[in-house]
Amino acid sequence: MTQPTKTILRALAGETLPTPPIWMMRQAGRYLPEYRATRAQAGDFLSLCYNPELAAEVTLQPIRRYGFDAAILFADILLVPQALGADLWFVTGEGPRLSTITSQADFDALKPASDIHDTLSPIYETVRILSRELPKETTLIGFAGAPWTVATYMIAGRGTPDQGPAHALKDENRPVFEALLHRITEATIDYLSCQIEAGAEVVKVFDSWAGSLKGDDFDKYALEPAKRIIVALKEKHPGIPVIAFPREAGEKYVGFAKATGADCVALDNSVDAIWAAEHVQIDGCVQGNLASRHMVTGGQALVNETRAIVEAFRKGPHIFNLGHGITPDADPENVQLMIDTVRAM
Ligand code: CP3
Repeated sequence: MTQPTKTILRALAGETLPTPPIWMMRQAGRYLPEYRATRAQAGDFLSLCYNPELAAEVTLQPIRRYGFDAAILFADILLVPQALGADLWFVTGEGPRLSTITSQADFDALKPASDIHDTLSPIYETVRILSRELPKETTLIGFAGAPWTVATYMIAGRGTPDQGPAHALKDENRPVFEALLHRITEATIDYLSCQIEAGAEVVKVFDSWAGSLKGDDFDKYALEPAKRIIVALKEKHPGIPVIAFPREAGEKYVGFAKATGADCVALDNSVDAIWAAEHVQIDGCVQGNLASRHMVTGGQALVNETRAIVEAFRKGPHIFNLGHGITPDADPENVQLMIDTVRAM
């Protein structure tokens, strides 16, 4: 196989680069005035997600402004539940709302995984536009939510602080819980596979609530589904790099890449970079993990913490990123300061 030339792909292939490539979770988002303008033009968030021209436009905005090394497709992890037949809407200032899955009858009303493309085909069109329009050095990342995280929203019908309703269904009606996870897993494989066929060069699986699964539950409902998705994708698309993000996995980050076949583990900012270099990066590429609050507060603390992270991961493959998505109250100037700090090292 030919060696990759794009910096993100080189890091994912295990190369230690003198300067880590950089992109940012939620890099197209409300902290950018140009995003807010395009979102207003689209009408609302979901209309923006399903409008390929405008979704490609907001994906490109942070690339034009900052020259990030990767672009992440503009979409949302909750489009998969919608494609499976759940109702989905967003309440301004609050977040997502969905119809709930709490019984066998609710589960039975869902569509089969093979039907998702009726809803999701505009997303593949966005990927096709991006693979034509991105600068040649920029890597295009596709993504989906991990089954557990997506299930937490489908079961509760909204975001929850402790994923209580999903834990309750797991404990009280395990057959329905497991059937739901299985359905989401199948849909996710198909969805990511179509993104790859459309031109995504890397895919990332977001398990934002992995940290609330402990012990065996973590292995069964975070690690196993990630492994199934990664194995299936690599069978269909040999060599496709996958980034896994089992957020707040703590000690469970150790060995996660080896156990699932992920090429890179994304780290949240609750783990110490020096510890992670020793225990996680020894197995391959890591991504992360600056606290996103520095994008709000800036200053010398941002510079110091950015340098400490680059320094900690310097001896192995590393993609610089935040530990979670940038928030709407961030100052775009602080993003530039982070990038300048990384690139000056
Ligand atoms: O990273 C990117 O820039 C790509 C696009 C992207 C979005 N959501 C756009 C978005 C990605 C990768 C996601 C992932 C996502 N969505 C996750 C996993 C990552 C994480 O943050 O933990 C989750 C849990 C969701 C579900 C979701 N979408 C919630 C809970 C919310 C509401 C909270 C909020 O920030 O408003 C969203 C909305 C959402 N998804 C926005 C964006 C830009 C804001 C919508 C708006 O413009 O009003």
